[in-house]
Amino acid sequence: MAPSSLLDRQRHRESSARSYARRLPVELVHGAGTTVRDRHGNTYLDCLAGAGALALGHHHPVVDEAIRRVLDDGTPLSTLDLPTPVRDRFIDALFDVLPEHLRQGRILFCGPTGADAVEAAVKFARTATARSGVLAFGGAYHGMTQATLALTGRRSAKEPLGPLLADVHHLPFPTTYRSPFGSDGGSSATRLVEWALTDDHSGIPAPAAVIVEPVQGEGGVNPMPTSFGAALRRTTRSTGAMLIADEVQTGLGRTGALWASTHAGLEPDVMVLSKAIGGGLPLAVIVHRDHHDSWKPGAHAGTFRGSAPALAAGAATIREVVRAGLAEHAAEVGDRMLKGLESVSGDDPRVGDIRGRGLMLGVELVAPGRHDSTGVPVPDGQLAATVQREMLSRGVIVEVGGTDDAVVRFLPPLIITADEADQVVDAFGAALRATIR
Ligand SMILES: Cc1ncc(COP(=O)(O)O)c(C=O)c1O
Repeated sequence: MAPSSLLDRQRHRESSARSYARRLPVELVHGAGTTVRDRHGNTYLDCLAGAGALALGHHHPVVDEAIRRVLDDGTPLSTLDLPTPVRDRFIDALFDVLPEHLRQGRILFCGPTGADAVEAAVKFARTATARSGVLAFGGAYHGMTQATLALTGRRSAKEPLGPLLADVHHLPFPTTYRSPFGSDGGSSATRLVEWALTDDHSGIPAPAAVIVEPVQGEGGVNPMPTSFGAALRRTTRSTGAMLIADEVQTGLGRTGALWASTHAGLEPDVMVLSKAIGGGLPLAVIVHRDHHDSWKPGAHAGTFRGSAPALAAGAATIREVVRAGLAEHAAEVGDRMLKGLESVSGDDPRVGDIRGRGLMLGVELVAPGRHDSTGVPVPDGQLAATVQREMLSRGVIVEVGGTDDAVVRFLPPLIITADEADQVVDAFGAALRATIR
């Protein structure tokens, strides 16, 4: 690569914490809809979509128009939590689409990232319950700040750091393919969480909150079974813990319903939202039931609590996702992609599992012949990285995640067409075939 390349310049000046740029060495200069173009003129189908932030893809006309309007009409760009018409319109748009039980609830704007919102939700639950513990799940991803890392599953990210948020316990997520309980993952995980919350001898003091992703994203695309969601709802209610649904990645149509909590039967007390609800610009909120609001004035603050362009882009995105029926579209195209991925994988023994919901899909790649203690083939992160590179060379950007980063993840904009979905599937099939040694 020429020494003046953007990647070279980045390598010399940005922190070694860079991540995506290592696995996806592209220099992007243009985005339109579902595609991005690099500075050499190569076009890619973008199945990363800003890690799910770009529900409507790049430069959707309604989003661009909404941003342009606030730039042109003199709306103040940043007003802390002072009310403005653009903020009011965003709240209207969001409350119109929230799960029924939260429509009479309250919204808190916090710092603009998903991690900011998770922090706020935990603080909120601790305040409302006057308890401190938080129950989270293996494979969870809630962010990279000190408190959210404590809640996150990936050990390697937190082991070097020493004490993080105290009083956090993890239990197994009800995964079906790779679980400490073997093939009985779902029901055993359900019994365990019920026991942990209700048995006086479980060793875990009654927590302030249980936080959960209705479909784990970074943890390798693990949908939560409804029976688990119902058990969580029942036991948190009976034990006075708040149920927090982290819908930062699943939110707004991604999983084939506007909110993945609905599939999972969660009916959460608190929902944590970011990514798509800002229309691609930084914005994060929590919404919660009205009667839990026990914060004192100023108990949670911050400078960037809703910038005008993000509020406008977010409101436009929410309205467009509903108008265009993009949740239903995600369900249909996602189903087509899932079947396509199954078909191109054939009986390749390196494909361990294909799973997901809507347009949040993953393929777990494994090393056939080598098994973990439950008899499931071990994950093969090296193979996933090679498939990711092969797909990039075929014009498709995908992400990896899960144990050993062995899950190839598909997270395209919700506007992806059936034809484009087929192209993604074909590129995956070709990449898989290209990696047969
Ligand atoms: C479920 C979930 N929660 C929280 C976060 C953290 O969001 P952010 O990266 O904006 O801090 C993410 C990011 O991917 C996420 O997927």
